[in-house]
Amino acid sequence: MTAFTEVADLAKVPPGERRRVEVNGELITLFNLDGELFAIYDRCPHKKTAPLVRGTLNGIGVKCPNHGYRFDLKTGKCDRGEEWNTRVYQVKTDNGKILIGPVINTTGG
Ligand code: FES
Repeated sequence: MTAFTEVADLAKVPPGERRRVEVNGELITLFNLDGELFAIYDRCPHKKTAPLVRGTLNGIGVKCPNHGYRFDLKTGKCDRGEEWNTRVYQVKTDNGKILIGPVINTTGG
């Protein structure tokens, strides 16, 4: 993914909300934390199936609904070790739309 792709209306992901979108066949979950947007690869890298869209927010992180591994929404880092780090993406808004861009980190996933 090299360019930004429009994925949703900002009004549909207000503060406190989340939404899973698909970009080039990749499932990505958007989180709006008090007006700040984050985008993380949706599939937990532990078993590669659990959807992080159903995870529990924990600070600026999300805990997997299956075994509770926590992923930082800014860096993709996992609290259980770097082998579980995942991808996070650039995200921006433009004219009331949310756009997802290239991966921020390359730490795994
Ligand atoms: S599947 Fe996500 S922590 Fe195990």
